[in-house]
Amino acid sequence: MRTDLDSLASRLAACVDDRLPQGIFRVHRAAFVDPQIFELEQRYIFERTWCFLGHESQLHQPHDFITTQIGSTPILVSRDGEGRLGAFVNACRHKGALLCSREQGRARAHVCPYHGWVFDSAGKNTLLKYGASAGYSEAFLKDDHHLIPIAHLGNYRGFLFGSLNRDVPELAAFLGSAATLIDLIVDQSPHGVELVPGRTLYTYEGNWKLQLDNGVDPYHLSEAHASFLDVQARRRKGMGNVDSRSFDWSRRDGLPAGAINFDHGHSAVWLEQPEPDKRPIYPAIDEIRSRVGNTRADWMLKGRNVGIFPNMQIADAISPMLRIFRPLAVNLTEMRAYCIAPVGEPTAQRAWRLRQYEDFFNPGGMATPDDAVLYEDCQRGLSAMPLDYLQGTSRGMGFQQSHADEVVSTLGIQPVSSALGRYDTYSEVAFQGPYREWQRLLLAGVKGERPYE
Ligand code: FES
Ligand SMILES: [Fe+2]
Repeated sequence: MRTDLDSLASRLAACVDDRLPQGIFRVHRAAFVDPQIFELEQRYIFERTWCFLGHESQLHQPHDFITTQIGSTPILVSRDGEGRLGAFVNACRHKGALLCSREQGRARAHVCPYHGWVFDSAGKNTLLKYGASAGYSEAFLKDDHHLIPIAHLGNYRGFLFGSLNRDVPELAAFLGSAATLIDLIVDQSPHGVELVPGRTLYTYEGNWKLQLDNGVDPYHLSEAHASFLDVQARRRKGMGNVDSRSFDWSRRDGLPAGAINFDHGHSAVWLEQPEPDKRPIYPAIDEIRSRVGNTRADWMLKGRNVGIFPNMQIADAISPMLRIFRPLAVNLTEMRAYCIAPVGEPTAQRAWRLRQYEDFFNPGGMATPDDAVLYEDCQRGLSAMPLDYLQGTSRGMGFQQSHADEVVSTLGIQPVSSALGRYDTYSEVAFQGPYREWQRLLLAGVKGERPYE
């Protein structure tokens, strides 16, 4: 048994070859195709750390709920009659049936579809159908029959996270300096942000980490999304739909761009924005400057993509978008994407934002299908036995430094490392944080160690 664990630990240790002092950081293809590693990810990553659940704006009113998952555990997040948020395992205490199968809604009570037990919006069992005459034992009646609350529910400025593990750090400590990148979204309005109602839901036949990587991978834009850039170029000449205020990507060449790694697997990339007037917050920028100062307002106009490990990304390079991903199998991933918008935004800016969002991010848009097809192509290529370590994590290492570079330091944050380069040199440095944490959590799991102090 020990030998099995030892060999598992050495396989995981080999998956991420992390030798930065020698200029080496590389990931083995086994991380993407090994079903045993997928099972370990569920147990030792998703069920051991904080996972993003949803946004408070999805649960405005008493009795509003959303359903989601932490790893393979179904979760119900619900606002009770007093407006308090709770998060529960979305499984009936009777025989384990999924209690609520709707994705979002409002319900004072959830009735189990199997035998009709009833639970209120605070997770309390309020009815055992035909209970009084059922001949239950005293011991059973003394037991509680309520939904099981998850170990932790945390709320960072409206962004809801949950954990099945009692021993996680406080949510603020888990997010660390990466929270500042969330602040740059929330503070785009004095009233915070909301998810625009509706979402897109799709699956791709590939490993979840292909999306994890892609969210901080600006290197692929010019090749993978060539048709999007081409359409944007035509629109700038007045052809087609001009409502989305198309960017001129060639104007970014030579401008500063960078990558950031944080503790706990979070990371980000950013790029200077030469066309701030095409951003839907631009008409509100004076109000934003007066509230958050010039430095943060300028950061809001830059393109920023941030990954909150393990299951959430915010991309704000076109218009702000939030992505949640859920691994279903080693080669199958479910994605949900939402448009983020400032609360109280004027109708004209909201329409502008939506046109930019649907252009790029919708499954019917011009970029998401490119990415999804490429993940599937990667998954096919990654099954090739002769491939071992991939070569996609090395760009930008020459620009990398410990802590914050001169641009990132203007935010007053303390990341683990950063790399300051140019848009056309891109960087793959932001893959380090996620894979380092991925390996750390898996190794702690198989060695029986606690992942957090
Ligand atoms: S499984 Fe829910 S009432 Fe039986
Ligand atoms: Fe893409």
